[in-house]
Amino acid sequence: MSLTPQGQRASLDKQPHEVAAMFDGVAARYDLTNTVLSFGQDRFWRRATRAALGLGPGDRVLDVGAGTGVSTEELAQSGAYAVGADLSLGMLHAGKRSRPTVPLLAGDALRLPFADASFDAVTISFALRNVSDTDAALRELARVTRPGGRLVVCEFSTPVNPAFRTVYLSYLMRSLPAVARTVSSNPDAYVYLAESIRAWPDQPALAARIGAAGWGRVAWRNLTGGVVALHRAVRD
Ligand SMILES: C[S@@+](CC[C@H](N)C(=O)[O-])C[C@H]1O[C@@H](n2cnc3c(N)ncnc32)[C@H](O)[C@@H]1O
Repeated sequence: MSLTPQGQRASLDKQPHEVAAMFDGVAARYDLTNTVLSFGQDRFWRRATRAALGLGPGDRVLDVGAGTGVSTEELAQSGAYAVGADLSLGMLHAGKRSRPTVPLLAGDALRLPFADASFDAVTISFALRNVSDTDAALRELARVTRPGGRLVVCEFSTPVNPAFRTVYLSYLMRSLPAVARTVSSNPDAYVYLAESIRAWPDQPALAARIGAAGWGRVAWRNLTGGVVALHRAVRD
């Protein structure tokens, strides 16, 4: 963990206590910072995630790495019963204050506090990248999903157009941390954000890992030119 006068950020080995402490530090202004840094695109990405899950009334959906519950609240718009789980108590407390009706509980993506096959669908938005063992998390998501149930992973990815990719990487590594200094309660966390996005597998590589973790019919859709990708799959 790097400690600076501004705050703290996790290292790329993503130790759970470091990741949780870093998110505790951004919790107070998390929702606002997201919207500013993504130029408002985060709302569109969340709506697309809900649509990709194909939820309806009567479905039970688990939102892993739910943070302040902003993603869980969007899922509930479908009429499904949506519950969020997160490692950071700071994020959960901020969520309880701003969204008191959204069910949120403490839980680690690597050891979810649910029985096998408890959910019709599971999703993880902007959180799989932060888990120390991606493959183990994907297997754990499969464990709590019923056979035939759905997975959607919403995560930053690799822009497909080379010219746009160059501009985006420059925004990520230079401008994003600078903008975060003006809005975030822990700007250092946004240096980690940029580094962790750069180190993350591209669309085909993540699809292969999902397929190796107990999921079938893996496919993806790029959003905002591949800044974000929605990977979807069905529990074998
Ligand atoms: C960038 S936030 C995403 C929050 C929300 N899903 C959204 O779409 O805005 C990532 C969240 O993942 C959580 N997280 C990281 N590692 C986790 C783990 N192993 N288990 C559960 N949550 C985890 C962090 O605490 C943080 O709240």
